Amino acid sequence: MKRAVVINGSPKLSEKGSFSSFLAQQLSESLRAEKLQVFSYNARAAQKADDLESVFKTMADAEALVFIVPLYFFCLPGNLMRFLTAFETYLKEVPLKGVKVYAMVQCGFPEPEICLEAVQVIRYFAKSIGATFRFGTMIGSGGMVPATIDAPFMRKTRTLLMRTLKRIAEDIGLKDNAPIENIPIRVQFPRRLYFMMGNTQWSSMARKSGLKKRDLYRRPYIY
Ligand SMILES: Cc1cc2nc3c(=O)[nH]c(=O)nc-3n(C[C@H](O)[C@H](O)[C@H](O)COP(=O)(O)O)c2cc1C
Repeated sequence: MKRAVVINGSPKLSEKGSFSSFLAQQLSESLRAEKLQVFSYNARAAQKADDLESVFKTMADAEALVFIVPLYFFCLPGNLMRFLTAFETYLKEVPLKGVKVYAMVQCGFPEPEICLEAVQVIRYFAKSIGATFRFGTMIGSGGMVPATIDAPFMRKTRTLLMRTLKRIAEDIGLKDNAPIENIPIRVQFPRRLYFMMGNTQWSSMARKSGLKKRDLYRRPYIY
């Protein structure tokens, strides 16, 4: 039985409200449906639990690694970068054997292409550890997907997402490594309405934290 490891790179430790957790769950189901043995970890939780050694061993023994990456400030989250660096160091003692790597990157902006740079980071990471990068999935409007996935306007997006999860699962089982294009997944929803809803949500979160709307525009790291 082939083994696949799903790495959730979100800094959120709670699964509630995290699209990365939603993706990790859906993907794990898809992988199991293709008769793969699945291991699923949150990179930050593994770091906090001081559990990296055993997670890295599972990863090094697997046939496939899928990194689920939420975009934070147009980059991979810092906790995931640390995790990748530590894994690379671990592999200096334990080299990989024929592992396939996939990236599922999702972001808050509607345009899935924004995720391309992060896909490239995982692609180069795969190359640096001697693994085979297969393809990336790039998903826009990430935050709204879990709550709306069953709504009629999401039918096309949902179908493409489920098909892509199945494609990853099937590709892991293939011997053939013919190149596959990255897959963009776009939510079909009016852009202006999406931004209006997003702005309302940011303001409401600020209020709940005892802040004013103008506090959202603070630039604490610029002196
Ligand atoms: C602090 C912060 C920074 C973010 N930066 C970006 C960004 O640069 N570009 C983008 O498209 N989305 C950005 N987002 C949106 C997240 O990528 C999006 O909400 C994603 O679904 C979060 O996934 P998670 O809940 O699984 O961590 C940001 C969100 C937060 C909270």
